[in-house]
Amino acid sequence: MTRFKPELSDRYGRRFSYLRLSITDVCNFRCHYCLPDGYQKTDQPEPLTLAEMAPLLQTFAHLGTRKIRITGGEPSVRKDLTDIISLAAQTPGIEQVALTTNGYRLADQVDDWQQAGLQRLNLSIDSLDPQQFAAITGYSHLDRIMAGLERALSLGLDVKINAVLLRGFNSERLQQFLDWIKHTPVTLRFIELMETGDHPVFFAEHHVSGESIRQQLRDTGWQVAMRHQHDGPAEEFSHPDYRGKLGLIMPYSKDFCSSCNRLRISSLGKLHLCLFGEQGYDIRSLLQPGVDPELLVAELEQRLGLKDETHYLQSGNTGATRHFAMLGG
Ligand code: 5AD
Ligand code: SF4
Repeated sequence: MTRFKPELSDRYGRRFSYLRLSITDVCNFRCHYCLPDGYQKTDQPEPLTLAEMAPLLQTFAHLGTRKIRITGGEPSVRKDLTDIISLAAQTPGIEQVALTTNGYRLADQVDDWQQAGLQRLNLSIDSLDPQQFAAITGYSHLDRIMAGLERALSLGLDVKINAVLLRGFNSERLQQFLDWIKHTPVTLRFIELMETGDHPVFFAEHHVSGESIRQQLRDTGWQVAMRHQHDGPAEEFSHPDYRGKLGLIMPYSKDFCSSCNRLRISSLGKLHLCLFGEQGYDIRSLLQPGVDPELLVAELEQRLGLKDETHYLQSGNTGATRHFAMLGG
């Protein structure tokens, strides 16, 4: 496996240069839309080890993966997160390593993560109001997360903030977010709440479309920003008077899936072709010592041939996804 192959692609011409690797489904928060009762321990197997991740990353890089996002659950609950970042950053072919986190351990650990090779960070901040933040996530940790954000920015990391749009919570506080990014150099992305198997009632009560925000941005001088390589389905906007940018992730909008460029691996080593697709295809046995790497190559190429054109969310399909701590969104 010395030469790189052309990028993995599917029958709709989409190319997959981006892998989201979930390293645990444990989380220490209780976001209403995800794990309202907190993480429930089960007697499932241990998540992928570093030794299993090494051939996984090598094979994906060989097949054209250039960007790795480490996600969870909450990835920082794993003691070896820094080693995992290092492993990804040192895999030949991988150009970008990113991490999604709730920020709980950011202030203490971001220096180590950056030294290990982390370049980008997605931080979840669903509200800038401490009480509302606690009401959404279950914990009063906003101050601690903000301190971590400061540290990450001072280290020069590229930071995106994710906020899930929630009717009755943050969707009424748009102005507070706008005032904040006037002076804060981050990209703040509003994500439409997606329906998952566990929470149909919460979805019905709190889903709100991003369309009215899009219209408001257009009416107030925000311009659609240039797209970069590895950019996914988010639409980004910038404004000359603002240091930060704004993004919208609207999975219920038409054509959302046409710019899909990502594949997912769950913490137990299952390949998911779509966040909402299916139960996942177990590839863990192909990551064991002595297994010919070509077997994984063949498996990935064959599975991608089966990827569907879209997620069918509009028709109420929530697939096998009970909540996003399973796959990290
Ligand atoms: N809808 C939209 N985004 C979600 N996330 C988790 N659950 C959902 C959902 N139901 C995203 C959020 C969160 C990240 C971990 O995953 O952005 O911050
Ligand atoms: Fe944890 Fe993220 Fe789920 Fe919140 S959304 S409970 S931070 S995994």
